[in-house]
Amino acid sequence: MQDFVFQNSTKIIFGKDQEQVVGQESVVYGKKLLLHYGGGRIKNNGLYDTVVKSLHDQGIEIVELGGVKPNPRVSLVREGIALCKEHDIDFILAVGGGSVIDSAKAIAAGAKYDGDVWDFFTGKEAVSDCLPIGVVLTIPAAGSESSSGTVITNEDGWYKRATGHMKMRPQFAILNPVLTYTLPSYQTACGITDMMAHILERYFTNEKNVELTDRLCEAALRTIIHNAHTVLEEPTNYAARAEIMWSGTIAHNDLLGTGRIGDWGSHDIEHELSGIYDIAHGAGLAIIFPAWMKYVYKHDVNRFVQFANRVWDVEIDMNNPEKTALAGIKKTEQFFSSIGMPVTMKEAEIGEEHFEEMAKKATERGPLGNFIKLYEPDVYQIYQLAK
Ligand code: NZQ
Ligand code: ZN
Repeated sequence: MQDFVFQNSTKIIFGKDQEQVVGQESVVYGKKLLLHYGGGRIKNNGLYDTVVKSLHDQGIEIVELGGVKPNPRVSLVREGIALCKEHDIDFILAVGGGSVIDSAKAIAAGAKYDGDVWDFFTGKEAVSDCLPIGVVLTIPAAGSESSSGTVITNEDGWYKRATGHMKMRPQFAILNPVLTYTLPSYQTACGITDMMAHILERYFTNEKNVELTDRLCEAALRTIIHNAHTVLEEPTNYAARAEIMWSGTIAHNDLLGTGRIGDWGSHDIEHELSGIYDIAHGAGLAIIFPAWMKYVYKHDVNRFVQFANRVWDVEIDMNNPEKTALAGIKKTEQFFSSIGMPVTMKEAEIGEEHFEEMAKKATERGPLGNFIKLYEPDVYQIYQLAK
């Protein structure tokens, strides 16, 4: 096990009607707030009114910025930064999913910086300070509600890039599973795929003697798999929605990565897909992750055997471990398919025309992944395997 420091200070406020306390939680950070959200959805379903009332009850002045798109754009981030500077904003409240939260995080960093916010995503500049942010989460998926990262798309060249800093971790995140009842099945399934991917990225490590986190990863994966079909068939099943929502946070709050070095190659390979084709991140992962597994499993067949056995209950064939490993990969692919995800480029109507360009862009800052280092030709092969 590697040495590690684990500190996740995001206060999680979980349960029914908890969005009503957002004013009390926010006022601690000041009286001028930027309210950040996506489409008109929260205005139609009453969530916006509840949040605004709670903020007003605490005497908080609100500046609004809606319009965050999935795969959030740097142009809106720049607008948000200008608003924060103009109105001397103290605190940013994100109401929505990973896209809204990531946009809020980028604004929070940009508001404390004199240069262009994209500098943080090219690596030209490191984030050093941030406005504090809070979250009312409406989709369990990205785990951004307690992660230290943000992923933003630059329309100029369609680069989707990540950056992060401990100060970007939200101060609090309100998780009410009832707010996820309205999610379309497709979005629910994208979220499930993404949270599973966050665990798998950590699970496939070269680190030995990480039994506790192996078992925690396996438990979280099994919980998600166990509840996935229930939430799709019964969208208002509170118990199942609650399990999925908490799993999404646990999957990405860094606990499951303690003492081990995760891979993250599949995420970087996927970001080119959602950057160029604007598909949902979870759907892109359902296509890329099984292909990545097929490409790398021989590097440590035993780890893939363990995964197949402990997560998918595949019986271990002592005489043919490769068969067991491949059966686990197949089960993963079939599961993504069973919840309505595309598992090939073809199913997502993506052709081969950008494979070379995507492989080049993905690796232009160096090789990807840690389980095995992937160079441009490897990434290209993975896109081919995902065809
Ligand atoms: O725009 P709104 O109105 O919020 O609608 C959203 C959006 O259209 C909708 N939605 C959200 N909650 C809903 C709902 N519809 C009905 N009922 C509800 N309760 O769902 C759509 C997708 O929302 P989005 O925020 O894009 O989804 P998600 O949470 O999956 O976030 C995806 C983004 O997060 C990034 C991804 O790359 C992607 O850009 N990630 C961020 C990470 C991080 N910061 O730590 C890690 C992840 O690996 C990921 O890369
Ligand atoms: Zn992800």
